Amino acid sequence: MKAVLMHGYGGPEVLEYADAPDPVAKTGEIVVEVHAVSLNPADWKVREGLRKNDVKARFPHILGRDFSGVVRETGDGVSDFQAGDPVFAVNEQGREGAYAEAIAIPEALAARKPDFLSHAEASALAMTGLTSLRALEDEAKLKAGETILIHAGAGGVGGFAVQYARHVGATVHATASETNHEYVKSLGADFVIDYKKVDFTEAAPPCDVVFDTIGGEVHARSFALLKPGGRLVHIAAGPPGFSPPREDVRVIRPDVRRDRAHLTRILELAESGAVRPPHIQEMPLADAAAAQEISKTGHVRGKIILRVR
Ligand SMILES: NC(=O)c1ccc[n+]([C@@H]2O[C@H](COP(=O)([O-])OP(=O)(O)OC[C@H]3O[C@@H](n4cnc5c(N)ncnc54)[C@H](OP(=O)(O)O)[C@@H]3O)[C@@H](O)[C@H]2O)c1
Repeated sequence: MKAVLMHGYGGPEVLEYADAPDPVAKTGEIVVEVHAVSLNPADWKVREGLRKNDVKARFPHILGRDFSGVVRETGDGVSDFQAGDPVFAVNEQGREGAYAEAIAIPEALAARKPDFLSHAEASALAMTGLTSLRALEDEAKLKAGETILIHAGAGGVGGFAVQYARHVGATVHATASETNHEYVKSLGADFVIDYKKVDFTEAAPPCDVVFDTIGGEVHARSFALLKPGGRLVHIAAGPPGFSPPREDVRVIRPDVRRDRAHLTRILELAESGAVRPPHIQEMPLADAAAAQEISKTGHVRGKIILRVR
């Protein structure tokens, strides 16, 4: 099969679109013919060696966490799927492997893809939805009537989070560059803050929850916005050596574990119309290196999806 092989840590030149051995389904696994795979910021971070503690790559390594495709083969003990079933999934961090024409994954990590979502759309909702639901539904337990600030409302995770928060009945403030304001409002934000022109700590009201998808100084400054008893839920690290300046708020870093239950919850929200797929820019799998360079700019609207077939 064709795949994007990562030959070592480094710049885009360590990626090569080349031949790789076809995967085989072990016990409890399915082999999926990948149709669409998400590009995540984690991909270029792993490639540059910034995630060596989480991802122990053995080269050549194949990146790619969330994807959608069609089951080709089932291993012993697989009972939930058969060849020909459309599925989508998020693979374990460290295993990855979806920048490829086929991938083997445990069946427990996959869910059936409904016809109302294309492969690109299912892939675009997978990691973004899983992360948002772990952060806002399971951990921060966002409720109707609460006020939330979501950083990077135009991003993959932020865009899902804006829709989820709106669905729950929260008042949603989000940050975005001016060119993305209409987009973020269309996702359901009540107020969009141009973080490049104004200080978000002055533009947003006191919040019950802040969802930080940016980290660094944004993380540190977000504490000023929290009401007493508020929750700062974050998926990106604060500044080096930073410790929370307040004891009257909760700081939550969700463990974004992969499972079918959360994929099923994403489908429930999508089917009811509570969330829709984000803006999608499709690129061919062979252009993965160029796509990662776009992701690295930090200004992708919605998701980049690599088209495999
Ligand atoms: N812990 C986990 O399990 C987990 C899971 C998923 C993602 N993550 C991490 O979470 C972060 C977000 O992921 P993602 O996939 O949502 O990223 P993404 O889609 O690449 O985010 C891009 C968006 O960020 C916005 N942005 C950039 N700088 C900003 C700033 N200072 N303030 C507000 N918005 C800003 C851009 O909007 P504008 O162009 O409008 O500026 C752009 O739309 C990444 O660091 C990723 O690695 C962690």
